[in-house]
Amino acid sequence: VVNKPRIGIIGAGRLGTALARGSIKAGYNVAIANSREPESLNLTLRVLIPEAKATTIADLIDRSDIIILAIPLNQHKTLEPGAFTDKIVIDAMNYWPPTEGKVEGFTDPEVGSSERIQQYLNNAKVVKTLNHVAYNELEEQALPTTSPTKRAIAIAGDDEDAKAKVADLIRAIGFDPVDIGGLSNGRFIQPDTELFNTRYSVDDPRVVKYVH
Ligand SMILES: NC(=O)c1ccc[n+]([C@@H]2O[C@H](COP(=O)([O-])OP(=O)(O)OC[C@H]3O[C@@H](n4cnc5c(N)ncnc54)[C@H](OP(=O)(O)O)[C@@H]3O)[C@@H](O)[C@H]2O)c1
Repeated sequence: VVNKPRIGIIGAGRLGTALARGSIKAGYNVAIANSREPESLNLTLRVLIPEAKATTIADLIDRSDIIILAIPLNQHKTLEPGAFTDKIVIDAMNYWPPTEGKVEGFTDPEVGSSERIQQYLNNAKVVKTLNHVAYNELEEQALPTTSPTKRAIAIAGDDEDAKAKVADLIRAIGFDPVDIGGLSNGRFIQPDTELFNTRYSVDDPRVVKYVH
């Protein structure tokens, strides 16, 4: 696919495969990886995402312009920070103690989980988005790009160019991107906030209050 950023998805579970399908449908080139050898994804690819390429995490990072983190947050330290230098990274992970327990460094409610991920992947351009939409809704509620009103998906990040490229991806997979400011505002789309797992449009007051 010409002129479209190449997408790499780390994590091939519910969210990762749904995003892979949506991105492929939108014409993106998609690579996907889990924690094991690429062959472990043979069945997943055959059944769910035949047009994706399974590869290693190192190769995926190398070949991708936008890398989506879709793994349990408590696994993030298995990622090698240096490999992500200058890459656009979508942090779609959630800190969710009921399922994965407390994670050191993530317990302060004043600091967004994606700010911690940015500190860890210190030379990447981290954008927080897609974390607050259920994987099945990403497929069921996607609308053609020509539809006037679509479900909105909020984006928070400190790098404007990275955010613009991620906004294009959100648009292409059938949603309206809405920029809610810097990465620290990502805490307003985390679990237990009014924008988490809720359907809203770009003019909804619950999101408009973060748009400047
Ligand atoms: N499910 C949703 O609707 C949804 C929506 C928005 C955001 N999220 C967030 O997305 C993340 C993933 O959720 P999920 O529901 O998709 O989980 P899931 O279905 O359990 O899938 C997790 C995937 O991550 C892979 N993985 C685990 N540890 C890894 C590591 N260290 N390196 C590379 N791959 C690893 C797993 O493969 P192996 O263990 O086999 O390697 C598996 O493919 C979570 O942070 C969640 O909060 C989920």
